Amino acid sequence: MEIIIQPTPGAATSIAARLIARLVREKPDAVLGLATGGTPLLLYRELMRMKLDWRRITTFNLDEYVGLKPEHPASYHSFMWENLFGKIGIVRRNVHIPDGLARDIPAFCERYEKKIRSAGGIDLQVLGIGTDGHIGFNEPASSLASRTRIKTLTPRTLRDNARYFGGGKKVPHHVITMGIGTILEARQCLLLAFGRKKAPAVARMIEGPVTAAHPASALQLHPRVKIFLDEEAASRLKRADYYRFIYAHKPDWQRI
Ligand code: F6R
Repeated sequence: MEIIIQPTPGAATSIAARLIARLVREKPDAVLGLATGGTPLLLYRELMRMKLDWRRITTFNLDEYVGLKPEHPASYHSFMWENLFGKIGIVRRNVHIPDGLARDIPAFCERYEKKIRSAGGIDLQVLGIGTDGHIGFNEPASSLASRTRIKTLTPRTLRDNARYFGGGKKVPHHVITMGIGTILEARQCLLLAFGRKKAPAVARMIEGPVTAAHPASALQLHPRVKIFLDEEAASRLKRADYYRFIYAHKPDWQRI
């Protein structure tokens, strides 16, 4: 794991954006895995500003709420079109987001996996982390080999996400999410986490044991993961100074 600690979310995000921009320029038909939520908002804003050519890029989103129409304001379809896709000239048929209204969810999930495979697999997967350690919506006790499927959110995630539903109790309990096995097959993963609230989950992900009890810890098994943190999210890391030292002394050819 490569841990990149920056003073602010903005500073960490610009490095992550540069990395994605480089991939989009070098491989104009790249396949990106994307996340929603508060964390990647800055990243998407920065990518929009970079005026990249998205016409041949394919995307797969991590997850969607079961039971929400794509046009529901809190759906991840709405989120993605509002905060990125609507502003970058991506081709609609190249965008894939789980269908929260799928009648046969297991069959839908199987097709989603097949589509990822026939697109050639995901080149780079963007991730956030939940305060309970989820990636995608793989909540604690998710199999580390899991594939795209339905999951039930934890009460903690329901509380964390209530803000997107007007603070009430309307957060759907079920979601469709790529599995941990699906995420681990991406050629490269890039996880962003900001703020003190994320610090305990970040510390367990990086310095705790690999365990289904903390799904993000599965990223320790991936050979190419970059974790972008601000100082607050890094505040519980025991070896933060060492991670800073590594980043400061990267060989020139490894610089982002
Ligand atoms: C969203 C997703 C989730 C979020 C996580 C953090 O597509 O897969 O894992 O990344 O819940 O959400 P925020 O960024 O809102 O704190």
